Amino acid sequence: MVKKLKVTETALRDGHQSLIATRLKTEEMLPILEKMDNVGYHAMEVWGGATFDACLRYLNEDPWERLRKIRSKVKNTKLQMLLRGQNILGYKHYPDDIVEKFIYKSVENGIDIIRIFDALNDIRNLETSIKATKKAGAHCQCAISYTTSKIHTKSYYLEKVKAMEDMGADSICIKDMSGILTPYRAYELIKAIKKITDLPIEFHNHCTSGIAQMSYMKAIEAGVDIIDTAISPFATGTSQPPTEPFVMAYKGTDRDTKLNLNLLEEIAEYFKPIKRKYIEDGTLNLKVLETEPKTLIYQVPGGMLSNLLSQLKSQNAEDKYEEVLAEIPRVREELGYPPLVTPLSQMVGTQSMMNVLTGDRYKMIPKEIKDYVKGYYGKSPAPIKENIKKKIIGDEKVITQRPADLLEDAFDKYKEEIEGLYKSEEDILSYALFPQITKKFLIDREPEVYHIELSID
Ligand code: CO
Repeated sequence: MVKKLKVTETALRDGHQSLIATRLKTEEMLPILEKMDNVGYHAMEVWGGATFDACLRYLNEDPWERLRKIRSKVKNTKLQMLLRGQNILGYKHYPDDIVEKFIYKSVENGIDIIRIFDALNDIRNLETSIKATKKAGAHCQCAISYTTSKIHTKSYYLEKVKAMEDMGADSICIKDMSGILTPYRAYELIKAIKKITDLPIEFHNHCTSGIAQMSYMKAIEAGVDIIDTAISPFATGTSQPPTEPFVMAYKGTDRDTKLNLNLLEEIAEYFKPIKRKYIEDGTLNLKVLETEPKTLIYQVPGGMLSNLLSQLKSQNAEDKYEEVLAEIPRVREELGYPPLVTPLSQMVGTQSMMNVLTGDRYKMIPKEIKDYVKGYYGKSPAPIKENIKKKIIGDEKVITQRPADLLEDAFDKYKEEIEGLYKSEEDILSYALFPQITKKFLIDREPEVYHIELSID
């Protein structure tokens, strides 16, 4: 039976997030969008993840404006975003009203597909996002953060898929942010998922460890519906596999992608000089393009490796790199095997670094780790080790309800806080997620009106 292999192009979100720290500007995207729109992609991932934060923090751009501009040029292809469930596009839990409004506004401004995940795969943290996405009329894709541990078995993942389907998912994504799902495991997992659901299955991975293309190939054999790839200049390394080779590999087969190769070539030519510019100015650290099989050993995402290295460098402790790397799986085990994805990747990385640099494990503990142990990020996949829990929070209480149940609606409060500065509900939502940087952005937008001195942290 002929079943077209669908392709989601990630260059404008994960591609540049993985390779150049999310620094691609809207003006660098706009001239090529019409061509991309005609390739025949299933979808283009263009928004969410770290792009929102990066627009406001580093590029002095309004992320909502970016989305509207992209939508105005992309008329045929579905636009996709990545949403961190109750964390929206930030690093902590937000109240339900903010999550709901954010999703409605995302759809109103042009998003068709919302990929929703929770760092802990705690289904409760997806509830509000799923409901809001369905209510807004968008396609609700639920993503499982893939990781390995003794409790992350095939049946663990099948249970998650079932729960997501029951909650209303329109499709399922296996999100392998570290690139550690090996080809034969991918085959088995996808075969098993296909047996229990008719929902379309998408596979998202990263080339970091060097096995991504092999895993895609086996996933395709197992009947995966959609794969995530990036146009070649923004592919490989810590990014996704390149789009063009997949188009060529399956040409004329029963999984032909039917994508327009001539257009893909033109698009690649367009992005080449842009990539070169970012190599020359140092934004693209060549290290991210290296194949790093260590990720298979330590199960650590590529982005985390480069972050660690630069943090250790700034502390003059580069020689501790291997030691910290070995500490990460240990901390992960003690903390109940959280998947290493935002924000848990940063949290586990920092704790591991502190453990090594102080020479006294859990002597220093970031507030986020304390909150995690208290249950404020959701339920840990496995129980946290008792002795470690004691070290981190003593006899303090652990919550068992959905963390956002403890949060009061906050939209009106945020609105009041920037009275006179905001021009739209979108401004208020940006502020809700990133108060300081949004405030600065809104003031800078009209410097002649607001002469206010601001301290930015
Ligand atoms: Co990714």
